[in-house]
Amino acid sequence: METEQTLVLIKPDGVQRGLIGEIVARYERKGLKIIGMKLLQLPLATAEALYAVHHRGKPFYETLMRFITSAPLVALAVEGRDAIGVVRTLNGATEPLEARPGSIRGDFSLNVTHNVVHASDSAETARRELRILFAPDELYVYRRIDEAVLHPQ
Ligand code: RTP
Ligand code: MG
Repeated sequence: METEQTLVLIKPDGVQRGLIGEIVARYERKGLKIIGMKLLQLPLATAEALYAVHHRGKPFYETLMRFITSAPLVALAVEGRDAIGVVRTLNGATEPLEARPGSIRGDFSLNVTHNVVHASDSAETARRELRILFAPDELYVYRRIDEAVLHPQ
């Protein structure tokens, strides 16, 4: 069993539509652990630090930067078994028109820019993105009371 940590953003559309609780609940009930959480409006430099490596120069880059810095979002540090892949599965396909019903994007979005959530796409990306959003002392170590049931020996 590989325990991983990953970064999730509930994008400004998710916050403005009152979906914070709904989205956090989906990760929690899956058995993932929230080890860091904050509401903030991203400075442009932080948004660029997150996205420039993979996306600068793409046609949607400026639109994405404008949107992601436009209003507050929620940053979550999420931990659990295979958390990076599990969170991306719960989020659904990037293009919400293709995202499966039952996934967050499948249930809540019709627009690829306003697609409610972001999640890291690899272990290296997750480490880099978590460092951008969270100081080491903002990530907490604790036990969920259901861990013995979630992870039987
Ligand atoms: P994310 O990074 O937000 O978790 O999404 P992702 O890995 O599923 O998608 P990615 O390829 O990393 O794209 C980052 C975000 O850019 C916007 N986007 N727009 N064709 C388009 O207009 C387009 N393609 C991507 C989306 O908001 C996507 O989440
Ligand atoms: Mg991505």
